[in-house]
Amino acid sequence: MLDRVFQSINARRSQSIASLKDFLRIPSVSTKPEHAPDMRRCAEWLADQIRQTGLRATVESTPGHPIVLAATDRKPGRPTILLYGHYDVQPPEPLEQWITPPFEPTERGGAIYARGAVDDKGQVFAHVEAIRAWQQQGGLPVNLIALFEGEEEIGSDNLENFLKQRRADLAADLAVISDTGQFARGLPAITYGLRGLVYMEVFITGPAFDLHSGMYGGAVHNPANVLAELLATLHNPDGSVNIPGFYDDVLPLSKAERDQFARLPHDDRKYMQELKIPGLFGEAGFSTLERSWARPTCDINGLTSGYQGPGAKTIIPAKASAKVSMRLVPNQDPNKIEAAFIQAMRDRCPKTVTIEFAQHSLGGPVLVPLDGKPTQLAAAAIKQGFGADPVFIREGGSIPVVGQIKSILGIDTLLVGFGLPDDRVHSPNEKFDLDCFYHGTRTAAALYAQLANL
Ligand code: BES
Ligand code: MN
Ligand code: MN
Repeated sequence: MLDRVFQSINARRSQSIASLKDFLRIPSVSTKPEHAPDMRRCAEWLADQIRQTGLRATVESTPGHPIVLAATDRKPGRPTILLYGHYDVQPPEPLEQWITPPFEPTERGGAIYARGAVDDKGQVFAHVEAIRAWQQQGGLPVNLIALFEGEEEIGSDNLENFLKQRRADLAADLAVISDTGQFARGLPAITYGLRGLVYMEVFITGPAFDLHSGMYGGAVHNPANVLAELLATLHNPDGSVNIPGFYDDVLPLSKAERDQFARLPHDDRKYMQELKIPGLFGEAGFSTLERSWARPTCDINGLTSGYQGPGAKTIIPAKASAKVSMRLVPNQDPNKIEAAFIQAMRDRCPKTVTIEFAQHSLGGPVLVPLDGKPTQLAAAAIKQGFGADPVFIREGGSIPVVGQIKSILGIDTLLVGFGLPDDRVHSPNEKFDLDCFYHGTRTAAALYAQLANL
């Protein structure tokens, strides 16, 4: 049967690519209020595609962006799989760095370039095409519930309530997410660890309005100077994070896991060349993979103060702010880390200015068990879909819903992603290789066949 499903996938290849481009043309940027109509249009478009395969699909309103919910009829005696993905995308800026515009998907060198190509529209659509192929061959072999949200890139704030309210409709044996990557070209992966995220904004306020820096400079504390000094305290010279208590709950890496990371074909020199950086930085005593997968970090994501126009303007800015995010690893607690960050910044802030905080997102780290049947079945599906055995990896990004799926629905998640490390996720010129789209679609189809044996 799977062979016939693979044939259906083959036969639709060019149509699949054309439809994916339609999906990518909708600028579903969740963080920008002016895109709210595009968000709804995108959800409706996706629901319609799923309906075409023969599944029920509805667009469910939330206080934020809508959720697309689809399902097969529940047949008794079959495992139920909850497929999760997101149709929202990151803002495309800086626009001038795109070779072709972010919402005009373009094929180049065997890849589609567009914002959301791999994160996550292309991977979502691989599943839609796999579902379509199964439906053409008499129907999916599992009970499937598909949930596609529009707020992943802004922290999945409304999803938690939705999962709680619809717990009965969402009851499943296992969740599947394709929103991660392969380790390298030709080396597909099952991801068993993701980092958590605490995303804060710090606001420093000084005088009531911008002041002439000649008249007041030296006598009035400059909020931009204060902010720079505060942010400079966040790291120690050895690259570690300087927040009291930050490392208290960090689970150390075992020797076995470090050895396993070290066996993966990672090359620091190639990594530096690809990123065009003259040197590597990070916590002393850890490798690049350890630093980016299994060690916690603190990074400034945005910095604003003073005059930003061309040329000079001599002022003491009235205020300064920074967006600072921390990636967390097991067993750090996001609430504790948020509190520790706020405490450290307050303690270090001089009394000559005021300091305030906003929290933009909070999500825990995850480690999913690898010793169960789902892992074996997924490995077999990857072999069928990609023609290669997977490696088992952790990744540094965050998918807030994985923790919620465990705590609210009580099930584990299988993370099987189809992207490549050089897909430029969140960067200009994001892409998805057509080859990854094709093999990803096959893998999704094979996964449904395998998971029927759960
Ligand atoms: N798909 C990514 C998560 C990801 C990236 C997993 C790279 C593995 C490797 C997801 O869309 C994402 O970007 N998540 C955000 C979460 C946040 C906005 C709450 C992230 O990691 O920054
Ligand atoms: Mn994603
Ligand atoms: Mn993302």
